[in-house]
Amino acid sequence: MRGIPDVRPHDEHNRLLVSNVHPPDWTNPTPAHRYNLVVIEDACQAHGAEYFSKRQTRSYTAGSMGRAAAFSFYPGKNLGACGEAGAVTTNDEELARTIRMLRDHGQAKKYYHEIEGYNGKLDAIQAGILQIKLGHLAEWNEKRRTCAQRYQEMLGSAEGIILPYEGSSGKAVYHLYVVRVHNRDELQRRLTAAAIGTGIHYPIPLHQQSAYRTLGYKRGDFPITERLAGEILSLPMFPGLTPAQQSRVVEQVLEFVGLTTAQAA
Ligand SMILES: Cc1ncc(COP(=O)(O)O)c(C=O)c1O
Repeated sequence: MRGIPDVRPHDEHNRLLVSNVHPPDWTNPTPAHRYNLVVIEDACQAHGAEYFSKRQTRSYTAGSMGRAAAFSFYPGKNLGACGEAGAVTTNDEELARTIRMLRDHGQAKKYYHEIEGYNGKLDAIQAGILQIKLGHLAEWNEKRRTCAQRYQEMLGSAEGIILPYEGSSGKAVYHLYVVRVHNRDELQRRLTAAAIGTGIHYPIPLHQQSAYRTLGYKRGDFPITERLAGEILSLPMFPGLTPAQQSRVVEQVLEFVGLTTAQAA
């Protein structure tokens, strides 16, 4: 593909695996090792998330496990700019050089274009904002984790709602707090009526997007994905979310699942 750096090792059997970060044990023999795949991390929602390898008794931060990783600094992210921004991390010098060129019209030095690139430079003002916000990231992530724990305590024993799972090796940073319920749209309407904002990340699976029509997939080809896309709901989650605000959300959710679970019984 034009503009996409070729990160494959020089072995035609290598293939790419793009993974978002809810990492399985990267340090154990994984499908990536078994099938000789190159791992590219989609760490766009994972600034500061960690994975603890029991085998190596050490932690890895999201963005340090694959050959390269993509971070989004979209304003709503845990580390967000005031406009579009992003970054790639890698410890592969050659790849880093290619990526630097790609974001600068393919220039290795001014006016010398080695490859065809695009204009993907980070504005200095965004870099300045991010630099300041970076100093708060750990504290903000901890606040998000506290909010997630409170949701877990208040909603954990409710029937009819599935909460996010955090494995014992993972340390999530809860960019979103996504629950699963039947009658999701009804719950969202109820929360909207109570002036509680929610989101759906994301309502339409990739194989059902018009952009990928040519791949020939149809409804029913990925039944689990399609079911989940109809059940997921992102509840309010941000570092400044107060216990009182969370109680108000939880009250509405519990009332809703109590009613719908009783109806289903
Ligand atoms: C997991 C994931 N990957 C990629 C992206 C795309 O990031 P951007 O909008 O900065 O290109 C997002 C943004 O929401 C995301 O959440």
